[in-house]
Amino acid sequence: MTELRQLSLNAFIYPSGHHEAAWRHPWSRPDRIYDVRYYQEIGRTAEAAKLDAVFFADGPALRTEVKHNAASGLEPITLLTAIATATTHLGLIATASTTYYEPYNLARLFSTLDHISGGRAGWNIVTTGTDLAAANFGLDSHPDHAERYARAREFVDAVVALWDSWEDDAIVLDRESGVYADTDKIHRIDFAGAYLKVRGPFNAPRTPQGRPVLVQAGASNEGRAFAGKYAEAIFTAHQRLEDAQAFYADIKAKAREFGRTPDQVKILPGISPFIADTEAGAKRLEREFNELTVPEYGLKQLEGLANTSLRHLDLDEPIPLELFSDAGDVTDNDRSRRQVVAGIVQRERPTVRGLLHRLAGARGHRVFAGTPEQVADTIEEWFRDGAADGFNVMPPYYPGGLEVFAESVVPILQRRGIFRTEYTGTTLRDHFGLTRPESGFAQQPALAR
Ligand SMILES: Cc1cc2nc3c(=O)[nH]c(=O)nc-3n(C[C@H](O)[C@H](O)[C@H](O)COP(=O)(O)O)c2cc1C
Repeated sequence: MTELRQLSLNAFIYPSGHHEAAWRHPWSRPDRIYDVRYYQEIGRTAEAAKLDAVFFADGPALRTEVKHNAASGLEPITLLTAIATATTHLGLIATASTTYYEPYNLARLFSTLDHISGGRAGWNIVTTGTDLAAANFGLDSHPDHAERYARAREFVDAVVALWDSWEDDAIVLDRESGVYADTDKIHRIDFAGAYLKVRGPFNAPRTPQGRPVLVQAGASNEGRAFAGKYAEAIFTAHQRLEDAQAFYADIKAKAREFGRTPDQVKILPGISPFIADTEAGAKRLEREFNELTVPEYGLKQLEGLANTSLRHLDLDEPIPLELFSDAGDVTDNDRSRRQVVAGIVQRERPTVRGLLHRLAGARGHRVFAGTPEQVADTIEEWFRDGAADGFNVMPPYYPGGLEVFAESVVPILQRRGIFRTEYTGTTLRDHFGLTRPESGFAQQPALAR
């Protein structure tokens, strides 16, 4: 029987897969990662499985160590526009940085994607964690964490006002009288903040969803406060049920503090599933991928998180505890992910190589190796026990890793009545169960316009 509360499932697309060595495995297709048809096929697979959306991460810098990994620099909003034309229902979520875009440009890009796709666009709002981007924009340094979030708040306020600039009934389209639009219902936004000034009005009407869905993925204190105020869906990384439950409760409470209904904020932790007919087979598959890792690559990623050189360490010695002992009070980049890694180090006391393997699967997201039934069980447990409204599914390898999830895990969740067997709406808001917001300008009395 179908239950009232339904899971949201989102496919997080990573070129060859989320495992850092996936591109070396014969099941992946690193030769196709600049081929738009490759992504359109992945989109069709996700849509055939009735997933809520696909999602791309992004950043305006060459962050991946391409010496040892296959990264795609394709710009995600453009790519999602191509996927939009190959699908009909699938939600389309792209990351874009509030630090390195301007609100007017970005509002246009997502507005256009929402129009083109018939209401399927979502924006993953990030402030960009890497300081490599600064030099690509003529800056001597990357703005600090607090400043990035201060600008992000202004940025989102300005973008939302631009999307609302035309009231829903602004288009009159009266050919007889020669009136296309009621300009009393098209507003300048006159946004003036400490970082951003945007006059408006916007140059396009409201989109099918009213506004594209606002997604967020930072988990520091500033990130959580930001999420509580703005986010309609949140991507997050947790290793353990109890950590995910604490995060879930905190975000829902923050949403309430901002006067929002908690079920209008969907929380989607990441899960990277290795799936096989037997648990032993799934674990073997995970080992097979781990054995393809290049330690130099993993060490470089880990150095970024530890903020120090690790070259002197013996791969088979335990990772020194003190490397992550200050994770609680790190005040700059990627601090929430650093805490996830600190937790692994403290609980499991892995060797350097062991930690590299532990992180190779999904950069700190939860890797789970098991049978389709076991994957469905853990998804259902987190969903029912107050840890998740759904999942950001991160196949270790593409395209087959999504296919096996779609063919073996999705039917189990459907049989259990917690995942749709058909789309019940056409927009991303419909899939996530989010309401369509009214234009902020529609609520103002006519005189104030
Ligand atoms: C699933 C997921 C996807 C993310 N994707 C991006 C991304 O594409 N680009 C980016 O700059 N940061 C990305 N992040 C990182 C966060 O946006 C954020 O920068 C990071 O968590 C540090 O911010 P915080 O200190 O608020 O946690 C992602 C995080 C998660 C959990």
